[in-house]
Order: sequence, then C-alpha cells, then structure tokens
Amino acid sequence: MFKWGLSFLFIFYGVIATAEDFLPLINDGVHDNQSGAIGLLQEPEKALKDFPLDNAGAIDWVKTLADGSIEPRKGLTGKEKMVAIDLDIIMKNTSTMPFVSFSHKNHTEWLTCSDCHTKIFMPQVGGNFITMASILNGDYCGTCHGKVAFSLYNCARCHKTDGNQSGLR
Ligand code: HEC
Ligand code: HEC
Ligand code: HEC
Repeated sequence: MFKWGLSFLFIFYGVIATAEDFLPLINDGVHDNQSGAIGLLQEPEKALKDFPLDNAGAIDWVKTLADGSIEPRKGLTGKEKMVAIDLDIIMKNTSTMPFVSFSHKNHTEWLTCSDCHTKIFMPQVGGNFITMASILNGDYCGTCHGKVAFSLYNCARCHKTDGNQSGLR
C-alpha cells in the first residue's frame, strides 16, 4: 500500500513536471510589494533563465555551482572557506528501488559538517536507521530535501545507483 502510494506520486510528478515557473517578485508572496526597492531586484524569470535543469525540469543547483553560474558567499565576511570532503556513501536499504548514492562532496560545497553531524546523522556508515516514511516526515534527508533542496518526489535523483541486492546496511 505504502509503496503504491509513493509510485503513484512519482508517476504523477513525472506527468506534471515542466520547467520551473517563476512568479514575478511583486506577487510571489515573499517580497514586500509596497517597497520601492522591489524594482531594484532582478526578476527570477530573467536571472535564472539559462540555469541548467535536472531530470524533472527544476534548477539543478549542484550544476550551477559547478559551472560557475553562481558563486555563493562562504560566510558573513566572504573570506571564509568551505572544507569539502570527497566521500560517497551507497545506501542499500532501498527495497526494490535502486540504491541511494550520497555524495559528501556535493553537500559540503554548501554545508558544513555540523549542519548534519550529529543532529541529523551519526557520522557512521549504517549508523542511522533511515526509512522513506521518516524522510517524507521531514527527518534525515527530508530535513532539507523538499524544503531548501530538490523535491522528495524526484526519486531518481537519490535512488540512482543500480544494485541487484538490497538489505539492511
Ligand atoms: C533526498 C533523497 C531521496 C529521495 C528524493 C527519495 N528517497 Fe527513498 N530513500 C532515501 C534514503 C536515504 C533511503 C534509506 C536508504 C538506507 O538507509 O540504506 C531511502 C529508502 C527508500 C525505500 C526503502 C525503505 C522504505 O522505507 O521502504 C523505498 C521503498 C524508497 N526509498 C522509495 C522512494 C520513492 C518511491 C521515492 C520518490 C517518491 C523516493 N524514495 C525518494 C532517499 C531518498
Ligand atoms: C548533508 C549532510 C551531511 C554533511 C553536511 C556531512 N555529512 Fe558526513 N555523513 C552524512 C551521511 C548521510 C552519512 C552516512 C550515514 C549512514 O550511513 O547512516 C555520513 C557519514 C559520515 C562519516 C562516516 C564514514 C564511515 O566510513 O563510516 C564520516 C567520517 C563523516 N560523515 C564525516 C563528515 C565530515 C568531516 C563532514 C564535513 C566536512 C561531513 N561528514 C558532512 C551526511 C552528511
Ligand atoms: C542539511 C541539508 C541537507 C540534508 C540533510 C541532505 N541534503 Fe542532499 N542536498 C542539500 C543541498 C543544499 C543540495 C544542493 C541543492 C539541490 O541540489 O537542491 C543537495 C543535493 C543533493 C543531491 C544532488 C547532488 C548529487 O549528489 O547528485 C543528492 C542526490 C542529494 N542531495 C541526496 C541526499 C540524500 C540521499 C540525503 C540523506 C541521506 C541528503 N541529500 C540529505 C541539502 C541536504
């Protein structure tokens, strides 16, 4: 039942996924539309129009960072440095779905270790009992994905590693 529910959402998402729609700043519900400053800001539709998209038609932020489309400040002063580590983890407790590949490199170019360790994940392979239900509930990967990082309904961006056997890690 649970799996069918998820598959249904995935199929549905596949059908409705199109290139991202950007609302004008004046009625995006986020910016103060009474402020004169609104005219000074670049409209997202214009600013983001050449950004690379992922398989679901959403902006692929990892690619924008890699190709230099954006260069976020590392900290308040701009002089801080990010310490990225290159450590991929294959997560195999995925039932009939392909394994999940977690890249430390792609995460630590934006985030610091203490953003995840130890509040969200114990830093130990297999040290966390992660289920899809808990992720959809906003824990583990769902602390960020579906909120500030790409959608939880883009199953294939996480479940992307072929493997013919699964099991508890
Ligand atoms: C942000 C990354 C991410 C996305 C997106 C994602 N998953 Fe997962 N999924 C995981 C992780 C991590 C696990 C746990 C793997 C482990 O512990 O070895 C998991 C586990 C699972 C499992 C096995 C465990 C369980 O709870 O049944 C299923 C089935 C599953 N995912 C289906 C899906 C489906 C269907 C989608 C799309 C609707 C999806 N996942 C989207 C990361 C993700
Ligand atoms: C976005 C979240 C996130 C960030 C940021 C992050 N990690 Fe991790 N880390 C994980 C996950 C997920 C695992 C695997 C846990 C599991 O298998 O259950 C892990 C596992 C580890 C492990 C265990 C490896 C092993 O072989 O057992 C170490 C060590 C580690 N991380 C160090 C770091 C360091 C150092 C940083 C900062 C440079 C960092 N992590 C940043 C999510 C993160
Ligand atoms: C602390 C926040 C945070 C957590 C927790 C987190 N992510 Fe991410 N993740 C991000 C951000 C930010 C990006 C880059 C922006 C984007 O792609 O939307 C990202 C990008 C990714 C990417 C695309 C880059 C790539 O390697 O292909 C994948 C896949 C991914 N995350 C999987 C996971 C999985 C699996 C987990 C849980 C084991 C997880 N993330 C936990 C914040 C997080």
